[in-house]
Amino acid sequence: MNLNGKTAVVTGSAGGIGFAMAELFASKGATSIITDIPAAPIDEAVKKIIDNGGKAIGIPCDVSKEDNVEALMQKVVEETGRLDVAVLNAGILRDGVLVKADRETKKVVKKMTLEQWQAIINVNLTGVFLTGREAAVQMINCGNGGVIIPMSSIARHGNMGQTNYSAAKAGVSAMTVVWSKELAKYKIRAAAIAPGFIGTPMVMKDMKPEALEKWKKIIPIGRMGEPEEMAHTALYIIENGMITGITIDASGGVRI
Ligand SMILES: NC(=O)c1ccc[n+]([C@@H]2O[C@H](COP(=O)([O-])OP(=O)(O)OC[C@H]3O[C@@H](n4cnc5c(N)ncnc54)[C@H](O)[C@@H]3O)[C@@H](O)[C@H]2O)c1
Repeated sequence: MNLNGKTAVVTGSAGGIGFAMAELFASKGATSIITDIPAAPIDEAVKKIIDNGGKAIGIPCDVSKEDNVEALMQKVVEETGRLDVAVLNAGILRDGVLVKADRETKKVVKKMTLEQWQAIINVNLTGVFLTGREAAVQMINCGNGGVIIPMSSIARHGNMGQTNYSAAKAGVSAMTVVWSKELAKYKIRAAAIAPGFIGTPMVMKDMKPEALEKWKKIIPIGRMGEPEEMAHTALYIIENGMITGITIDASGGVRI
């Protein structure tokens, strides 16, 4: 698919990887829909793209709320007349081990809470289900086909300290395979991206400098990824009509 004149929605795109994608898509001639939770700097992101000569529209939406997501995708088609690309990028972290025992007493002193579990499932799994479903509804009704790109993670294989996140991201990759099969007859492709460690607020916010150095040693290419590299991966999926039903690891060689 050539993005010129198309409409691309990127959830969670007020910053981080999502914004880099919206910026790249706009530079290729698409109208980028910047959508994020209302508290996020949506207007700033829209302005940056418009100031650089691109087209962008801001629409607040909490991806975990069905009515928000239905209204988002309807509004996109009302405002631009089409929907061609949906990147299901909004995501959060609530890391913690399943259970933790005290070193001396050997008794459990801490558990991953149900709130920690449910918050991740609501945004990272239900949010992807809802935005993928509503994007497909509008793409089918518009009749032009489309591309759906859910954001998974290398953590989908099971990362320590991420029972909740790993489960959600594995679910995202599984849904991508299902959608590639179910939606092919409507000329809709679905392919996910699994980033490794990308230097965005999500990763850097709580990372101690020692941890950062440790991770750099583990990453075969010796550095964290850039949001622009994830955007480039999304563009590759959009432009290559053969790519569907897979998760592309864009991780600098890190395996979990
Ligand atoms: N950064 C990494 O290293 C990394 C690694 C693997 C996977 N990922 C995935 O890539 C995606 C983007 O991550 P990022 O690093 O850019 O994170 P980020 O925190 O910089 O951006 C995530 C965005 O999602 C938004 N968001 C959160 N909850 C939302 C909700 N309920 N509704 C709508 N928007 C919501 C946030 O406001 C934020 O703008 C996420 O799905 C993340 O899990 C990131």
